Formats: sequence, structure tokens, C-alpha cells
Amino acid sequence: MSAAGCMLSTSALADNGIKVEHLGVDNTLVRITGDGNFLLLPIQDTVDDAKIDVIVDNKLVKTFYARLAKSKTDVTVPFDLTPYKGKNVVLNIETPQGRSSVREASGDICWKAMEVSDSYDSSNKETKFRPSYHHSPEWGWMNDPNGMFYKDGKWHLYYQWNPYGSRWQNLSWGHAVSENLVDWEFDGLAVEPDGLGYIFSGSCAVDPNNTAGFGENAVLAMYTSAAKSQIQSLASSTDDGHTFVKYEGNPTLTLDSEARDPNFFWNEKTGKWNLLIAHALEHEMLIFSSPDMKEWTLESAFGKGLGAQGGVWECPDLFELPVEGTKTKKWVLICNINPDGPFGGSAAQYFVGDFDGKTFKVDTDAQGKVPTKWMDYGKDHYATVSWSDAPDNRRVVVGWMSNWEYAAEVPTRQFRSANTLPREMKLFRGGDGQIYLASEPVAELEQLRGDVVVDALKSTLGTTPLQFRLPESTEGLCEILASFEASKNSTVDLTLSNSKGEKVVMKYDAKERTLSFDRTQAGISDFSAQFPAVTVTPTYEKDGKITLRIFIDRSSVEVFGNDGRFVMTNLVFPNEPYLNIAISSPEGKATLNSLKVYSINRK
Ligand code: FRU
Repeated sequence: MSAAGCMLSTSALADNGIKVEHLGVDNTLVRITGDGNFLLLPIQDTVDDAKIDVIVDNKLVKTFYARLAKSKTDVTVPFDLTPYKGKNVVLNIETPQGRSSVREASGDICWKAMEVSDSYDSSNKETKFRPSYHHSPEWGWMNDPNGMFYKDGKWHLYYQWNPYGSRWQNLSWGHAVSENLVDWEFDGLAVEPDGLGYIFSGSCAVDPNNTAGFGENAVLAMYTSAAKSQIQSLASSTDDGHTFVKYEGNPTLTLDSEARDPNFFWNEKTGKWNLLIAHALEHEMLIFSSPDMKEWTLESAFGKGLGAQGGVWECPDLFELPVEGTKTKKWVLICNINPDGPFGGSAAQYFVGDFDGKTFKVDTDAQGKVPTKWMDYGKDHYATVSWSDAPDNRRVVVGWMSNWEYAAEVPTRQFRSANTLPREMKLFRGGDGQIYLASEPVAELEQLRGDVVVDALKSTLGTTPLQFRLPESTEGLCEILASFEASKNSTVDLTLSNSKGEKVVMKYDAKERTLSFDRTQAGISDFSAQFPAVTVTPTYEKDGKITLRIFIDRSSVEVFGNDGRFVMTNLVFPNEPYLNIAISSPEGKATLNSLKVYSINRK
């Protein structure tokens, strides 16, 4: 085509450090002309993704997707230009308009709102719902916590992250580090997508004996490379997990069916690595072994037909724990499943049994059946796995505090999703003879305790509720310690509410031996029909005596009962903090032994 008759569509946004050239209805070139550290990209959460090819000195160096703003900017995300300093950087952007669509890309607001800048402001703008003491990403979408390991006094947490928007996309590993499991410091993007695909979930462990050849005490990472197929890749780090070098021989393990979320650990007894991979659509976990993390032998498969089977099997974990009060040790196999959780959508089930390095043999009940067991009976506890190499034989887990049913719709923008509080795993024998997993908040969380803002003495509970009010200064952030007992056939209601009439009602039912959690009137819920829910957990006790530890953050409630023997994690989006606590027993046959509420020592 000759140039005659063509419109020259170049517009130089000199002040913004870019030059924009519209090449057609759905194709735009953005040249970087300024020399700042970041290109700030305006994102509109509800539009479709644009495909962005990053071309540096004529070479395609990466492709990513972002919902570039068309009519309004919900959030701004940074694209890091520092690796390309002094080079020619051009973004070749395909916007989602088709040739038939009404408006051309040139009409979108993103081109004017884009700018090169030396800094990116990641300070919190989600004042209402951003957790104040749970880990959440500074910006962007997050799902599974993964790759967690402990080394030299530091707890490393990686997570499935989209650095370029608040919905699932561009899956990478973000990294955060903590010395106390309470305060998390963001450490940037640790593993980025590559030619083999997105970086899906996986695990890490320290290699003290250099079995994999990357150095003594190198941190090894194994993750799923996800593109057309899901294959497993290896990476290593010699700077304590800050950066990873991908193994040049990747992928290290391929199968001809959907398999993901490799979880590996060094098995002291066999002197080999063991690896579990979720054979997602087959509803089973594949178990492998290897001397060097590169050559893998398939040893067995576990789980076909067992436990909950209605969803894909994902994110396995396998570890050994002592059974409380005995000399017995048992193995726990965690199997996250989505959907088919007890209240719809995602949930974490587990199996208890024995493991010899090759085969996991599951315990059965008195009828010879394998009972389905859940780690948490709330709606927002998924992809839960543990830290490798934790000190003092501790087994600490963390879960993703959301549910695939509505995770992308929750009313937050700058970040989407937080993690649960870290939990200490223990095994106990229930009244039915079965061995169960208890989840206790880690001891480190006690440092969050601020002032005692409610301290109630023993009293009889009746139809008229005992009412308590938290000081405004708490902003509703608190830890509640409640201890009560109810006689047979009676119930106890513990209600959190605000002045807008929004409430969460927890009901202990001594006859059913259950605790329910009703969030149907908890606050904003119109973003998803699946959100309003009543969740119910067995309480396992036999005597009507209940102690609860309830952690309330800005958009979550975690209930730990009887030393973690039952747990419920649920998101809530109240328009105002819950400052009212009411306790009653409609049948009048229950006693409050104590109620103590601590404010939370941070904002
Ligand atoms: C679980 C999961 C994993 C996968 C990851 C992708 O939530 O589906 O199986 O690795 O998310 O982000």
C-alpha cells in the first residue's frame, strides 16, 4: 500500500515518556521515550485483556496480558523497565476490539493515562477491606500460596500472582518474607512466565546435601509450566529464594494428561526425594521418587474413588506428624479440591494413613470405609499447603482465603485475595476413633494482642443477649476468646453486628454437636449468588464445652474451636466494622464461662 491516502496516526505524549502510534482499530505501538524505571499501566477491571508484546532492540522478550483502561482507570500497575535501560523498548499491543466493534482503540483512555515514571505508588488504597494482619499482595491478583520454605530464621511465602491486574492472568510467583509469620515484607516477582508457559503452583525445599547439583543449601523449586499442556519444571536459588535460575533441561517431568502442583520433600527414611503431583482430572495424586530431582520414578497413585471426587484434585501435600498424647506417628495427605467443597466451590480435604516412600496407605473407619475429612469448614480456605524445612518439627500451613466461585468478583480492586492466618498442624484422635487434623493459629500471632477491650465474667446465658461493644478505635479488628458450655438440646448464639444491621451469626448446637456460621446478612454480597452462605462444622466434643478463638480482620472471620479441632474461615464485606458482640442462649440452659476480646496491635 502506498503512503498516499493513509492517515498518519502518531501522537507523541512527550510528557508521559511514551510515543503512541495507532496502527489500526485494534493494534497500537507504544514506544518508550522517557527513561524512568516503570511504565505505569492504567487498568480497568471489567474490560477484556489486551495482548502486550514487549520488543527490546527488535527482539520479542516477553508477552503479557492486561485489561488496559477504556473508559475509566480502576488501578494502575507497573511494568518494570529497569532490565532494558539504554535499549529501544516498543510495546506492540493488540487491544480486544474486533474490526466490527464500535470504537477504535485510539478512543480508549489508556494511551493518555500511561506514563513512564521513576516510582510506583503501591501504598494501600483499599482502606475498607484490605486485611490489616493477614498477608495480601501489595497489588494485583493472588491465588494459591505455594513454594513455602523456611531458612535461616526466615519464612518464605510465594504465591500465584498477576502483577498486571486484579484477575487471574500472567501467572507468576510473587514473594514475601517474614521473620515472625505475622509481618510480611514484599520481595517482588520471583519466577516469571517463560517459553514453557505460566508458572503455576509448586513447592520449594532446601537441598543441604547438594543432591540436585545446584550447590549445598541451594533452594530448589519445582512448579508446573502451564501452556497447552501442564508439565513440571525445576529451578534453583542460591540467594535464599530471592531469585531463581530455571534448569536448562526443563521440563523435568511430563505426562500425557493434566497434572500439576508438584509438592516434593526429602524423605530421610529412604534417602530420596518424594514428589506428589495432582492428577487433576483423574482425581488422584501421583507419587514419585528421585535421587536428584531430575530423574523421577512413578511409585504409585493414590485416591481414585476416595474422599470427595466431584472436582479437580489440586495442590497436594504430604507430611508426618505425631498423634497427640501417643507415641504414634501418622502421615497426612492434603488434597485440595475444586469444586465439590462441603458448601460449594473450593475446599481442602485430607487423608490420614501411612507412607513408606512409595505408597500411601489410607486409614479406614470401623466399616472399612475411607471417611471424607475437611481441614476447614468455611467457604474461604483453599490451596492449603505447608512450609518445608520449618524449625522444631513444626508443620505450619497457610491457605488462600477465597473460593474459585467468586474470587474474581469480590469487592476489592487494588488487590484480590489474602491468605489465611498461618496455622500449626496437629493430629488428635476423635471420639469415633478416627485421627483428625487440628489447625491452631501459630503461637506467633499472640504478639498481635493489644488492649483487653472486653473482659466478661462467668454468667448465665438466656434469651436476652449479653451485649458488648468494642471501642471505635479498634476498627472492629480483634481476637475474641469465648468459652461457654451448653446443656443437652440447647444452643448458644454469638452474633457480630454493626449499626447498619449487618451481622454474622455463629450458633453452637449442643444436640447436633455443630457450630454454624451465617454470613447471609454479613454485608456486601451481591457480587455473587454463591457468596451468601451458612457453613457448619462438627465440633467433635462430647460435653457441650466450647472454647472459641475468633480472629476478625477487615474482610474475614476465622473461627478456631477447642484448640483448633474445628475451624471455619469465611470472608465478609461489612459496610462498617462489626463493633457489637452479643451472646445468648434461646433455651436458657447455657453458661458463659469467660469472654475476652483483644484489640489488634497494628493497622
Ligand atoms: C489451584 C490452581 C492450581 C494451579 C493454580 C493456577 O487454585 O488451579 O491447581 O497450579 O491454581 O493458578
